[in-house]
Amino acid sequence: MPYPSRPPPPPAESPFRGREPDGLRLSGVHFSHADGQPVFQGLDLAVAPGEFVVVLGPSGCGKSTLLNLLSGFLPPDRGRVELNDVAVRPEMPELGYVFQSPHLFPWLNALDNVRFGLRMQGLLTPRQQADKALHYLRLVGLEAAAHKLPHQLSGGMRQRVALARALAPEPALLLADEPFAALDAMSRRHMNEELLRLWSALGQTVVFVTHDIDEAVFLADRVVVLGRAPRGIDCELLIDLPRPRQLPQTQRLPRFHALRDQLLDRIDHVTTQPA
Ligand SMILES: Nc1ncnc2c1ncn2[C@@H]1O[C@H](COP(=O)(O)OP(=O)(O)OP(=O)(O)O)[C@@H](O)[C@H]1O
Ligand SMILES: [Mg+2]
Repeated sequence: MPYPSRPPPPPAESPFRGREPDGLRLSGVHFSHADGQPVFQGLDLAVAPGEFVVVLGPSGCGKSTLLNLLSGFLPPDRGRVELNDVAVRPEMPELGYVFQSPHLFPWLNALDNVRFGLRMQGLLTPRQQADKALHYLRLVGLEAAAHKLPHQLSGGMRQRVALARALAPEPALLLADEPFAALDAMSRRHMNEELLRLWSALGQTVVFVTHDIDEAVFLADRVVVLGRAPRGIDCELLIDLPRPRQLPQTQRLPRFHALRDQLLDRIDHVTTQPA
């Protein structure tokens, strides 16, 4: 069965949310980098179509490795990584990826970097590609920088171009590795709201890595906390805050504070675990 391009999110109250048979699934995944140090030993994780999952955990616990496994850039040593029962491959058209560092094409300006994925898709005329690329650049607040080359942009601007490039083809599955880490606080809040607005419009499945607990609670349907490698998943927390969410209103809810405190305790716990 092909991956549904725009699946409706499952209802928030569904007891099966995050556990439907379709969607993204890691089963019994073992993975070590070339130096032989294990990062995962039997990791299981299922992400339902339309679900927004945020991954938190101490530096080095395997968050980027997890996204590389989910995208097919790294094959597992053992176990399976599947998108709707098909082994994932990085070239799958359903997939959009924002790396921890922006990886822009240095010879293309911001607009052409964003156009790149649309050109690869081959669904739009050059004019439509340019319009859509500009739309996504506007969305990340960089319309005025459309003709600048990456070396003429700040680190935060480059991150935003990379995000626009991943979003423009409107992928059914978005994998994002700390996409807002280089942004100032105001831009970051704005991008959090924009991302949720897009996600609710497009019904995308998102796996999003961050170190920011407030960002995690604001965005997620479910937060997955990883323990130090190779412990894998320490705990999962359903974020039962109402949607649509807005800043600062959502962050003022007592439930927001309760969830954030729970996560803080857990992060303290995993960070102080012996190696
Ligand atoms: N290419 C590599 N070769 C060898 N070891 C690696 C490689 N990439 C990552 N590692 C190791 O794998 C483990 C997990 O790294 P990973 O980059 O997934 O962590 P992370 O949770 O994303 O950390 P951070 O929060 O700092 O980005 C770490 O011990 C790291 O040193
Ligand atoms: Mg990382």
